[in-house]
Amino acid sequence: MGISVGVPKETAPGERRVALVPEVVARLVKQGVTLRIQSTAGESAGYPDDAYAKAGATIVPDAAGAFSSEIVLKVQGPSVAEVALIPRSSILVAQMNASRNLPMVRALRDGGQTAFALELLPRISRAQSMDVLSSQATVAGYRAALIGAELVPKFFPMLTTAAGTIRPAKVLILGAGVAGLMAIATAHRMGAIVEGYDVRRAAGEQVRSLGAKFLELQINAEGQGGYARELTPEEKAQEAAMVDGAVADADVVITTAAIPGRRAPILVRAPTIEKMRPGSVIVDLAAETGGNCELTKPGERIVHHGVTIVGPLNLPSDLAFHASLMFAKNLQSFLGLLLTKDGGLVADRSDEILVASQLVSAGQITHAPTRELVEKSP
Ligand code: NAI
Repeated sequence: MGISVGVPKETAPGERRVALVPEVVARLVKQGVTLRIQSTAGESAGYPDDAYAKAGATIVPDAAGAFSSEIVLKVQGPSVAEVALIPRSSILVAQMNASRNLPMVRALRDGGQTAFALELLPRISRAQSMDVLSSQATVAGYRAALIGAELVPKFFPMLTTAAGTIRPAKVLILGAGVAGLMAIATAHRMGAIVEGYDVRRAAGEQVRSLGAKFLELQINAEGQGGYARELTPEEKAQEAAMVDGAVADADVVITTAAIPGRRAPILVRAPTIEKMRPGSVIVDLAAETGGNCELTKPGERIVHHGVTIVGPLNLPSDLAFHASLMFAKNLQSFLGLLLTKDGGLVADRSDEILVASQLVSAGQITHAPTRELVEKSP
């Protein structure tokens, strides 16, 4: 007998994505799982109720009907009130952003549910198909290039027209992780001259393979798990000098630099912005974690010295159809570790991917860094 899986409608302000799409629902139903989708859960992402019903799901009228399932799937972590709707010993899977949502973690601990936080998945090749950080960063990088193209008063491509020849725009991407590489690929396809920079030397080859120039410093700040480490003061000074010249010469700057668990590094300061040509644009994808540009206002668009600076929040939600499809495929893959072939729950949860991503279980915060944060905060 298969278990019940519920998908509530997302309630965070501005969130348009949905955790499962009909295509993935159909596969789970085939496996024997009972699917409960809250009515209109997929509407803002372009997936109407009847598409889910056709895929074999039951449409439930309210959130309580979806939350009262053995497994609850969400895009973002639940509110404290939503946690109260999840039965004790049920399993929640979402991108929880646990370190920024401690009241939710406490509510799950006290409520006795088990929660898996998808942002904690180890970045090993076996977990790649489940990696929501990568899938959603791909969407964000694509959107960032489009926002830059839309706001800059210039063409991206070189044009030879009867009205003369137009020089291509110069686009600079700071931070060439998943989002940065997608922004590079998108801007390059639109015909801009693209430059990329990252503190990890390994990123250089990937940047060049996309047809962009890699700006190189004589440092390699690859730290634990393939992520960047924080730079030393000397390295920061070298970086500032190089970034200053490159930013001043760019029409569009897209910044994506992040260091796990820390505030985003500041790469672009006001005096550098004041050297940019009027009409230039900065799209700061690190706005959510403090911004790579010191003037960024998260969620806002400002103009400083003729330069437009945007700090967009939740870009994946802008492209809700495909962002949800990718998220749902990631979930399908993750559920492969939790479900048996005939749609029951596996008894053995010792797989390293499950262990690493488990946040709370049976009244305990099992993820040590989050437990420490909860213990330290009042
Ligand atoms: P992220 O979102 O943590 O950071 C974005 C980028 O900012 C990174 O490339 C980082 O090196 C860079 N950065 C940090 N400080 C900087 C500074 N001061 N100046 C310039 N750039 C700076 O990274 P993301 O996109 O999540 O990827 C991190 C790593 O994980 C990459 O090596 C990526 O290839 C790897 N990865 C591995 C996967 C797997 O094997 N399953 C899946 C996805 C990513």
